[in-house]
Amino acid sequence: MQTAQPNSLRLLQWMMVASLALPLALFVFASAVSWVSIRETADREVERTLDVAHEHALKVFETIDRSLSEIAEIIRDLPDADIVAREQALHLRLKQLVASLPQVKSVWIFDAKGRALVNSLVVPAPEIDFSDRDYFRTHVAGDIGTHIGEALTPRPPYQGAAFFGVSRRRPSEDGGFAGVIQTSVLPEYFESYYARIGREPGSFFAVGRADGTVLARFPAAGRDVRLDRNGPIGKLIAADPKADTEAGLVTVTSSTDGIERRLAYQRLAQYPIYVSAGLETSAIRARWLSTVSQHLIFGAPATALLFALLGLALRRTRHLYVEAEKRRVAEEALKHGQRLEALGQLTGGVAHDFNNLLTVILASVDLLRRPDLPEQRRLRYIDAISDTVTRAAKLTGQLLAFARRQTLKPEVFDVGRTVQMLSEMIGTLIGSRIEIVILGPEEPCFVNADAGQFETAIINMAVNARDAMEGRGRLTIAVGMAASLPNAAPQPQHPYGYVAVSVADTGSGIPPDQFERIFEPFFTTKQAGHGTGLGLSQVFGFAKQSGGEVAVASEVGKGSIFTLYLPRTAGGGKSRQMPAADAAAIDGSGMSVLVVEDNAEVGRFATDALAELGYATRLVGSAVHALEELTTGAEHFDAVFTDVVMPGMTGIELAQEVRRRHPDLPVVLTSGYSHVLSEHGAYGFELLQKPYSIEQLSRVLHRIGRRKVERSAETRA
Ligand SMILES: Nc1ncnc2c1ncn2[C@@H]1O[C@H](COP(=O)(O)OP(=O)(O)OP(=O)(O)O)[C@@H](O)[C@H]1O
Ligand SMILES: [Mg+2]
Repeated sequence: MQTAQPNSLRLLQWMMVASLALPLALFVFASAVSWVSIRETADREVERTLDVAHEHALKVFETIDRSLSEIAEIIRDLPDADIVAREQALHLRLKQLVASLPQVKSVWIFDAKGRALVNSLVVPAPEIDFSDRDYFRTHVAGDIGTHIGEALTPRPPYQGAAFFGVSRRRPSEDGGFAGVIQTSVLPEYFESYYARIGREPGSFFAVGRADGTVLARFPAAGRDVRLDRNGPIGKLIAADPKADTEAGLVTVTSSTDGIERRLAYQRLAQYPIYVSAGLETSAIRARWLSTVSQHLIFGAPATALLFALLGLALRRTRHLYVEAEKRRVAEEALKHGQRLEALGQLTGGVAHDFNNLLTVILASVDLLRRPDLPEQRRLRYIDAISDTVTRAAKLTGQLLAFARRQTLKPEVFDVGRTVQMLSEMIGTLIGSRIEIVILGPEEPCFVNADAGQFETAIINMAVNARDAMEGRGRLTIAVGMAASLPNAAPQPQHPYGYVAVSVADTGSGIPPDQFERIFEPFFTTKQAGHGTGLGLSQVFGFAKQSGGEVAVASEVGKGSIFTLYLPRTAGGGKSRQMPAADAAAIDGSGMSVLVVEDNAEVGRFATDALAELGYATRLVGSAVHALEELTTGAEHFDAVFTDVVMPGMTGIELAQEVRRRHPDLPVVLTSGYSHVLSEHGAYGFELLQKPYSIEQLSRVLHRIGRRKVERSAETRA
């Protein structure tokens, strides 16, 4: 959860970045692709328009050329005088011709001196010298065929649009120069045609002579436009590899209007004329921008929406995490509070029970102090103190059991047999009106657990069942096998499975609201004095500490079934002996014991008690002192009796050291509670739980003393 949070936030952030970067990259790519394609399209378009313009110009010049031929044919071999004589008729003929050719303004026939003999405009032709015009001068020297001249303005009295001459030499009969036939062609005609076919914004057309003189241009510019061969366009055309074929496609900036264009040009086959068509690069760019903006119109809002949605998701997720964190903290605080409450309840429970026990002890002691107390009363008070101490010890034992801190003494025993042996005791406990059914397993099932604790747990469950049935009903104790633990806990499952002992009753059942709490120490629904609330705590603690589990199922009004699971072991062990009832203390008969105890009072009690039993004792306050004592005279002692929890070296460390230095010297450990003992057991040493009675102490010492005697007898033999 803790790493999942930043991970999913980071993922969202990355997605936000991607939601922008990806469309942007796509947009850049699409724009580049569309730029290339739009330029290619523009080139094709320019080429197509050039084809049209080329076709058109060719037709125009061919038509004029044919008309010139026609006129030449009409006046062939006619002397100037005859032409003048037939001026009226010829004028009409020329006028007709002009009327049929929209590109032609007028047609003229000049004599060898440059004077007009006939024209299509007026009769008689004006007395003006045209010999300075280019269309006249070029033919004087020799026959150069059809000549296309530069753009000119009409000479007064004529007015109107500018024109350029298309002319031909009039040969005399002897092949000499007789004059010129000329047609005045209107550049406007080309321009209006180009205006019609060049509707695309940025369109460009031009017709010009091979020497660079521009005859017509669209859009129109000043008349005297001339392209320098050494100018930018001239150079570009010269550098064009396709220039040989008299056609090409270039990008140029016009020196006339300073506009950059994509320009295609082609020469008219029989004439020194070039036709060109073009498109302003800014127009091409505009087309591209319009396409790109179309992408944007669709892409940008979608991207913005996605980005905004992701941003919203990020904000929400952050908010959610903050909320979750707040809730976690609140839950933690609640749990902490509950823990404290449980702890308070536990502490209160312990204090309450102990105070009751202490009250009995204190009162008994006070009464014992009274002088002249009859012997019978004295014994009664002493018994009361002893009983109370036993109960107090049981109480701490149960607490330790629940806390899973008791020192277990695991041994291998057969659960079925043990339950069978217990049944008699249980029967006495629950009374005759409750039927008791014991269902044993088909085969022996062994566990390696603390048998004493096991019996206590069964008895606790049986007593609970009795109390739930209020004296009438059926108690069923069944022993069986289970492959796994019921709650599929994460702990490793046991290889041989589990032995399950279930205690079922037909009692009141457990209300759902109490279900969670029944295992809590001091939780009881029984009347004051009838239950401590520690029974199930012991069952729970014992089960858990032994690697097992306790499960419960219950239905209000029908009964409950508690099942205790313990890990099963393969082999059988010694069959378990029921613990012997407290026997009388055994005489020490001169054995010498080294007592190690940091608590002076407990130490004095122990030595006094041992002395009373006939043991010789030596009391030291720490493990270090004990080792010193043993170094100087280990042979003086028959046993070491040491507390476990001591400052500095612990009793277990001392015991191990003694075992290493003096293998023959037995050690007995004693402890009220030790963390090490509860986790690791007694490391093979004898252990006497505190509080212990003098009888218990004497029995343990007697046992080890006997073992020692047996061992030395063996070595002697
Ligand atoms: N078999 C059962 N049927 C119904 N309720 C049960 C049963 N076993 C336990 N309980 C409920 O669980 C509570 C706690 O049980 P637990 O054995 O821990 O304490 P106790 O029996 O009240 O006191 P004691 O310490 O004397 O055992 C009981 O008070 C009772 O309410
Ligand atoms: Mg109980």
